[in-house]
Amino acid sequence: MAHGAMRRLGTAQALAQRLNARPPAPELAALQLLGLSELLAPARRHEAVVVDQLVSAARSRPALAPAASFLNATLRRFLRERDALLAALADDPQARWNHPAWWIDQLRRDHPRHWESVLAAADERPPMTLRVNRRRGSVADYLARLAEAGLAATPIGPDAVLLAQPREVTALPGFAQGDVSVQDLAAQIAAVALDPQPGERVLDACAAPGGKTAHLLERADCRLLAIDTDASRLQRVHENLQRLSLQAEVRQGDASRPADWWDGRPFQRILLDAPCSASGIVRRHPDIRWLRRRRDIATLAERQWQMLAALWGLLEPGGTLLFATCSVFRAEGERVVERFCAGRPDAQQQPLFWRWQGQTAAHRLSQLLPHAAADRNHDGFFYASIRKRQ
Ligand SMILES: C[S@@+](CC[C@H](N)C(=O)[O-])C[C@H]1O[C@@H](n2cnc3c(N)ncnc32)[C@H](O)[C@@H]1O
Repeated sequence: MAHGAMRRLGTAQALAQRLNARPPAPELAALQLLGLSELLAPARRHEAVVVDQLVSAARSRPALAPAASFLNATLRRFLRERDALLAALADDPQARWNHPAWWIDQLRRDHPRHWESVLAAADERPPMTLRVNRRRGSVADYLARLAEAGLAATPIGPDAVLLAQPREVTALPGFAQGDVSVQDLAAQIAAVALDPQPGERVLDACAAPGGKTAHLLERADCRLLAIDTDASRLQRVHENLQRLSLQAEVRQGDASRPADWWDGRPFQRILLDAPCSASGIVRRHPDIRWLRRRRDIATLAERQWQMLAALWGLLEPGGTLLFATCSVFRAEGERVVERFCAGRPDAQQQPLFWRWQGQTAAHRLSQLLPHAAADRNHDGFFYASIRKRQ
């Protein structure tokens, strides 16, 4: 219900403004928004049941009990005047798209042809995609194990399998033993694109909770250093590596201050999966859109640029740095990379391509917009591969 309320908050808030003579107290407002969101849900529960249960919820809390009749009256008025009330919101983008107005404006500027489908994708339920540990068996082997367990699934990437229905991880064959992990297809592109080779020195500069760290190690016996500033999230890197029986050096460190943790030996490959707005994964975290502020984007982009600049000196000539963000805003993707490469004659952005099974054309990768097609179901992400000239 909370996820649904976040996905329909723009519409519910605009309706509440029309239904309320003055703003209700915060807890009551939350209950009203939840009620409106349930009444707006595509697969609606019985309307009278929704209203009844919300009114009972209000009555069960002494502070809200006096307002139960207000809740009852406003929700029932919505049901009576639904069509007219919704029609009155037609020109309000925040109510229409359930995202803050600044976010919609930015997307429209960044993706004039696709902004509407990106916004619509944010309100879909995300799929559950698995990453098969290729050290333990092939995708074909794992599909057979899923079929045996009665779980329908489709292969959608070199190591990726899309489940027809999300499941508890405990229902997945071999999960506890490390045969498989949960990871979106777009996130799985990182290890494929960076393509580490056995014996290479690889840095994963923002590693926690370790999804991409593990995938890099599943694909090659490289010597990997995983760092992150957040000690509690680093614990999850340890847990993931342990479950998958993989080895890496894991250290707490700040990617923008390598002098504090770098031993001076250059890396052949660097992954910088930088902290960002997470605007590409709103279908998984529908509250992100309401928590971000417009000014956050420029602040995050500046931090991403600083990390890129600080890590460049750690890359061996001839080596590759893969810059990634799970963002759909150009400010946190191509603009950071353009600004970075413009001042550095030794930095050369290389095209990234993705070809998968029956697809005849290779997709050129950089800004991946969230996509729900069965064979390309993935979150929004940005990737840039930057080579250091010899
Ligand atoms: C997008 S997440 C990384 C996800 C991870 N690569 C994965 O695939 O599981 C970004 C991470 O950057 C970390 N971080 C933020 N600022 C950092 C900094 N200055 N240096 C290193 N890590 C940082 C955050 O703690 C967070 O874990």
